[in-house]
Formats: sequence, structure tokens, C-alpha cells
Amino acid sequence: MKLGIIGGTGWLGGAIAKRLLGTGHVAQGDLWLSNRSGKREGFEAWPDVMITDDSAALITACDVVVLAVRPEQLAALGVDASTRLVISVMASTSMARLAELTGASRIIRTMPSPATEHGEGFTPWFASDDVTDDDRATVQDLFDACGIAEEVASEAQIDWFTGLTGPAPGLFGYAAHALIEASVAHGIDRKVAERAIRFHAMAAGNEIWRSDHSPAQDFARIIDYGGVTTAGFQAATDTGAMEAFSAALDAALEVAKKDRT
Ligand SMILES: NC(=O)c1ccc[n+]([C@@H]2O[C@H](COP(=O)([O-])OP(=O)(O)OC[C@H]3O[C@@H](n4cnc5c(N)ncnc54)[C@H](OP(=O)(O)O)[C@@H]3O)[C@@H](O)[C@H]2O)c1
Repeated sequence: MKLGIIGGTGWLGGAIAKRLLGTGHVAQGDLWLSNRSGKREGFEAWPDVMITDDSAALITACDVVVLAVRPEQLAALGVDASTRLVISVMASTSMARLAELTGASRIIRTMPSPATEHGEGFTPWFASDDVTDDDRATVQDLFDACGIAEEVASEAQIDWFTGLTGPAPGLFGYAAHALIEASVAHGIDRKVAERAIRFHAMAAGNEIWRSDHSPAQDFARIIDYGGVTTAGFQAATDTGAMEAFSAALDAALEVAKKDRT
């Protein structure tokens, strides 16, 4: 299979390409990347990857085409991908709009994060009616190689995940920022607070991932425990932290739902 990524040297397209190349999941000779500048910056280590400013040539050469340009750049692309499986990683770009602008009917919308570069991207995907079983296997395989891929129940859920897991570190980064600022306000040296929270975020992430308990079970357990953390969780709850996270995701959803092409 030949894979082409339009916008493949950008932040997200490049992260996907580097992961697939770095793991050997896609051979150099089977990967095409396009951009307007023709620059191969960041891909010097893979001289056999085809980098072109001609996205139409990429589509002709490749069986699967990933769209990784910014939403507002899509209309100017002006390509016909009607005979190809088109996988979009784009926010704020509906399946209907993708079909209109590329002519494709086999379309899969996904929402990876730049953490794909390290094999840590969670990628939800949703397929159009014309997508075949082989196409489904292809998208699952590509994004499992970048972390975890998971089919979701509707296109609308891709918009929700755009704010939830599309950015890395996203809202977890915001929580880290809040913890650091509270510590600095308490007199902890900024460098120490930042080092502590960066390291602790890694430990916390690993703990959440490998735990047998869900975060909801852990929360209930801490509330029952009646200790130091209990007081912290209680105060966070009483002051509306749960609602604040919910409001943040609702606000992100409103932007994700809007067409920006
Ligand atoms: N970055 C994230 O965290 C993230 C997360 C989830 C989803 N996304 C989605 O991923 C997409 C790309 O975002 P990004 O952050 O990676 O943007 P980016 O870094 O600006 O990358 C966009 C790439 O597209 C290329 N490009 C623009 N117009 C083109 C055209 N007509 N033909 C070929 N290549 C073209 C640009 O290269 P030239 O300037 O050389 O043409 C650039 O390399 C967006 O739709 C975004 O919603 C991003």
C-alpha cells in the first residue's frame, strides 16, 4: 500500500509520518508527503520518502490519502480524490465538506494528536457509508501504530474528541499549569514546582493508565479515606472544578463543530 499525506510535513501530518517511518510501519519508498513549499525539513533522515508540492501527483501515486492541512487551507487545495480512501485528521471539517471539496465518497474522519509521534496518540475514527472493511482495517492499523485507534459511534463524537484528546497535553496541561501556579503563589520556587509537576504528571498518567480502578472509583476511594487528598478533592468539587472542565469541553466543541473551510 502506498500512503500519501497532504500537509505531511506539518505539525500533525509530520508527527504521523515520523511515527510510521520510525517504527518501520511504512517503508520510506511507500510514503509520499506534500506541502506547498516542497521543503523536506525534518525528513532528512528518510531520503527515499517522496516529498512534493504536487498533491495531485501524490493522489495518483497513493492508494490512501491523509488530509492534514489546516481547515482554512483545504478549499484552495483543489484536488480530485474521488477514487481513493481519504482519511482526514482535520478539525472543523465535516464529512460532507470533505466529500464536496475532494470528490471522495470513501472518507474516514479521525482525530489524532501530535503525541502520535511517540506512539501515544489516542485516535477516534468514524467512517462514511461507502468505506469498505479493508478501509476500516487500514485506518485501524495505521493509527494503532501511532498509539490506540478506536471507532466511535458518530461523526459528532469526532468533534467532541477534538477538544478532549486532539491536543496534547490539552486540558491535562492546563491542570498542570494550575498546580504550578498555585505552588508558586504558595512560595515554592517556580523551577522546582515546574520540575515536580512535569515529573508527577508522567507518574499520574502512568498510574491512571495501569490502574485496575477507574478514575471515578479512585475518586470515591479517596473521598472515603478521609485524609489530606480528601480535603483537596472536596474543595475542588465544592468550588466547581468538575463544572469548569465540562464547560471547557463544551466551549471546545462549539468551535470544533463550526466549519472553518
Ligand atoms: N496540531 C495539532 O495539535 C492538531 C491536533 C488535531 C488535529 N489537527 C488538525 O491537523 C491539521 C493540520 O494542523 P497542523 O497543526 O499540523 O498545521 P500545520 O503545522 O500548519 O501543517 C499544515 C501543513 O499543510 C501544508 N499545506 C498547507 N496548504 C497546503 C496545500 N494547499 N497543499 C499541500 N500542503 C499544504 C503546510 O505546508 P506549506 O506551508 O509548506 O504548504 C503545512 O506543512 C488541521 O486541520 C488541524 O485541525 C491538529
